[in-house]
Amino acid sequence: MKKLFALCIISLLVIQCKESKKNTQKIKRGLVSNNAMVVCARPEASAIGIAIMKQGGNAFDAMIATDLALCVAYPFAGNIGGGGFMVYRTKEGKTGALDYREKAPMAATKNMYLDKKDNIIKGKSTLGAMAIGIPGTIAGLFKVHKKFGSLPFEKLIQPAIDLAKKGVVVTKKQAERLNKYKKYFAQANDHTILLDKDWQEGDTIKYPNLAKTFMRIKNSGKDGFYKGKTADMLVSYVQKLGGVITKKDLESYNAKWRKPIVFTYKDLKIISMSPPSSGGICDAQIFKAIEPYDIASYGHNSVKAIQLITEAERRAFADRSFFLGDPDFVKIPIDTLISAKYVQKRMANFSWDKATLSADVTHGNIVGYESNETTHYSIVDKFGNAVAVTTTLNGAYGSKVYVSDGGFFLNNEMDDFSAKPGTPNMFGLLGAEANSIKPEKRMLSSMTPTIVEKKGVLFMVVGSPGGSTIITSVMQTILNVYEFGFGMQEAVDAPRFHHQWLPDVVVLEPTGFDSILVKKLEAKGYPIKQNKTRIIGKVDAILLLPDGRLEGGADYRGDDEAVGF
Ligand code: GLY
Repeated sequence: MKKLFALCIISLLVIQCKESKKNTQKIKRGLVSNNAMVVCARPEASAIGIAIMKQGGNAFDAMIATDLALCVAYPFAGNIGGGGFMVYRTKEGKTGALDYREKAPMAATKNMYLDKKDNIIKGKSTLGAMAIGIPGTIAGLFKVHKKFGSLPFEKLIQPAIDLAKKGVVVTKKQAERLNKYKKYFAQANDHTILLDKDWQEGDTIKYPNLAKTFMRIKNSGKDGFYKGKTADMLVSYVQKLGGVITKKDLESYNAKWRKPIVFTYKDLKIISMSPPSSGGICDAQIFKAIEPYDIASYGHNSVKAIQLITEAERRAFADRSFFLGDPDFVKIPIDTLISAKYVQKRMANFSWDKATLSADVTHGNIVGYESNETTHYSIVDKFGNAVAVTTTLNGAYGSKVYVSDGGFFLNNEMDDFSAKPGTPNMFGLLGAEANSIKPEKRMLSSMTPTIVEKKGVLFMVVGSPGGSTIITSVMQTILNVYEFGFGMQEAVDAPRFHHQWLPDVVVLEPTGFDSILVKKLEAKGYPIKQNKTRIIGKVDAILLLPDGRLEGGADYRGDDEAVGF
């Protein structure tokens, strides 16, 4: 009896110790601002978004200006030749989502990436003119402006025009990227493009033709991209390279308002992107799977925390590959997929002793019845509006097809379709019929722009690039703050890991996980990949501190920066 009493006391002390560490640990904060903040992939673009808000613009105005500035400052993923998703929460607490994802061209066919023997034609969906989906970005920005803009569009696009004319200084990371992809620019185009040089840190790149395209958009609105000179340049160049995009494809593109995925995790309300992105549903499933467990008591990136999250991810990604696709084309049992009952039933065979094999996991049974070459930014304005946007060309510089006269790259988003069931795409993701190619269908995404409320109040704005690892990165960043007591910058900096059902491997970032932990996981049957792994996600996030100020988390893994006032 005495022994039992002593054991209880020791357990209580251990729990208290862990709790007090969580509450008292010194938080190393990122940039803290009183009024408004933009966190994105380049300081030039963050500064432009902030300048718009200083002029009285709201978060939506800042979104438009930041997005356009990223086209200039971050051509790696910032784009007018791609697409994206936005999740918002207004100062009144109203939430919504915008889908400006690319669509398959009207001439697309289910087997367009297969040869006569039904084998995938290597590179056809990733490099060159056949890889391109109909771009949605400009349609999306005008849709946002119509509903929420408070400043004239001309004023929002002007800073990007000025930046394109003035030029952007090349960073070390940017020079490395440009030089790495140079050979692909030559393969995808029929001439030497502006970016096809040996770049060095400190060089300046000016984009005069992009400035002219922006001028046409400034003067003619959405038609400045989807009709007239820009459309002519785009279509004639893509067709010259053997692509199938027509002027009709461009003219008929439309961005769509969607109902976001909304779910609770303990006392958080999480608002995230709905299909055609898989992000919101996958994260809802992962959070619902781990909710019954006291993950904070296991410790950040502990064996138990990694096990639990991995098993939740395994099951969520298996469902993703079977059920998810463009909701305009496939029926998705969303309510069931994100219900605690369904998800927790999927976790019933999880064991602390031994990893579940992905080979033994398939999608759930529902009766009756989806790299770092993307970019995310988070914005909060002084009024309390919050905007989370993830936008992409898909691969680095997209298809590498560069409309030189227009000054922009075109995406290779067609690779996000399931070109052949059972054959992975560039992110190793498998797909099924739900994500098969059809004319005008949107390809499944992993982009997860997300806004979190705590007790009814704005708590966090978060998102990441990284293909399938976006889902993981967003979820781990929220957990780092909410469960493990990290500040926003600390949560972004923390090492991340990833599992996506297949391939059956837990990927760890190269640094931050010691060999003892790796051995313990391997002993339980988790295959680990750590050496030569890439960074996982590149999170840009904003946290509302208890005193009402904003803390930015800008990912050190890129050139990302928070700017605020
Ligand atoms: N192109 C990456 C994604 O949409 O998930």
